[in-house]
Amino acid sequence: MGERVTVFGAGYVGLVTGVCLSSAGHEVKVLDVDSSKLAALDQGRTPFFEPGLEDLMRESRSQGTLSFATVGDIGRFSGIVMVAVGTPATATGWADMTYVREVIDALEANAEPGTVVVMKSTVPPGTGRNLAARLAPHGILYASNPEFLREGTAVTDWFETNRVVLGGSPESIERVKPLYEHIDAPLLECEVTSAEMIKYASNAFLATKISFINEIAVLCDLVGATVDQVAEGVGMDERIGPAFLKAGIGYGGSCFPKDTRALDFLANFHGYDFHLLRAVIDVNARQRLLPVRALREQFGSLEDRRVAILGLTFKPDTDDTREAPASEIASLLRAEGAEVVGYNPIPVVMPELSRTADSLEDALANAHAVILATEWDEIVGADWGSLVRSMADRAVVFDGRNALDPQAIRGAGAKYIGVGRPEDDRHGAR
Ligand SMILES: NC(=O)c1ccc[n+]([C@@H]2O[C@H](COP(=O)([O-])OP(=O)(O)OC[C@H]3O[C@@H](n4cnc5c(N)ncnc54)[C@H](O)[C@@H]3O)[C@@H](O)[C@H]2O)c1
Repeated sequence: MGERVTVFGAGYVGLVTGVCLSSAGHEVKVLDVDSSKLAALDQGRTPFFEPGLEDLMRESRSQGTLSFATVGDIGRFSGIVMVAVGTPATATGWADMTYVREVIDALEANAEPGTVVVMKSTVPPGTGRNLAARLAPHGILYASNPEFLREGTAVTDWFETNRVVLGGSPESIERVKPLYEHIDAPLLECEVTSAEMIKYASNAFLATKISFINEIAVLCDLVGATVDQVAEGVGMDERIGPAFLKAGIGYGGSCFPKDTRALDFLANFHGYDFHLLRAVIDVNARQRLLPVRALREQFGSLEDRRVAILGLTFKPDTDDTREAPASEIASLLRAEGAEVVGYNPIPVVMPELSRTADSLEDALANAHAVILATEWDEIVGADWGSLVRSMADRAVVFDGRNALDPQAIRGAGAKYIGVGRPEDDRHGAR
């Protein structure tokens, strides 16, 4: 039998962690405070969409290594306790530590000496040092173990991660290591605050790559270069690499926006002005305005124009709409008087829309413009010739992910606008 593990939080990180650890033979109990999530889990359903997770969860449950409970059902805690509750942004940009604090309060009162608390949630650098000092008098150990999985590929990412980071005392790290014995990846041992900073620095760097290529895309538009080709050539340099060099309407989701803001807040708090990071955040905010500006330029007023937004989640293959560009774009368009129809391959709720369409065809019929916000395969691979022909005359297609074929769209009679793909591109955008 493996380790006995309790996971706080049945969200994207906690549930994936619990399911993957239990499938590797550890005895895992996942706790949450949300009874609707627990009801779904009890019926063998995951409360959110994540490819491969539900099947793996059923396997683990049938082998008896995975169970679920509400937090109140557990009297005492022991073994390894992983914390994977949310740390959303507050209005100031700082991480909201309410949920983490609740969990730590419960553990301080109810964990047996010898318990190891493993922080998977992304918490600001400096947090763990304080928590470790608070828990130590109770004989409770503390380790930081930041998570790097990506929604949409979370299960594969968990098993095939490129590194495991463990921050803490040698004793706490030794206690956590057996959880990762089945993972074939380098394990970095460091002190707690460094582990916390690794997570923020990684996300800030990836966000920087995205904003950087978005700045280059603006220049491409100005000088008549095609950013796709530029990114391809730049990414061929193995010191740079091709990942995260895709120009578009910017990053969203539950991590990059909040983690970049929290790091910026941390810098300010310490009296340091992190210019580069602030520019990354500003560029990202500007990118989201591009489709709205482009449509305003094309139509003058957007009053009573019908605009379709395709891809409502922050990335493909997830149902997560937290900080998705689509929601902000929808609000801006509606503020200008447009009717905004949204479509997503997996149904999601987005209150900023005028309505949600059942299909691509429904979304685009008679629309004056369409914005591709997220590049789901179903959307990119659709028959864009016939979709465009179902739109209003002189329709505009704003390709916010540079994922569509400009020639096909122009050929069907619409105006195509990409990001860093100038119209007079004689070589083709791809
Ligand atoms: N989502 C990602 O891709 C990702 C990747 C890496 C790191 N992270 C970090 O992991 C953490 C969790 O993110 P997430 O996306 O899984 O969040 P989430 O919102 O999907 O899940 C958090 C869960 O915690 C539960 N919860 C809240 N208070 C609780 C309590 N007191 N006891 C038990 N459960 C409680 C909530 O009901 C919710 O189900 C965050 O700090 C996030 O920054 C997320």
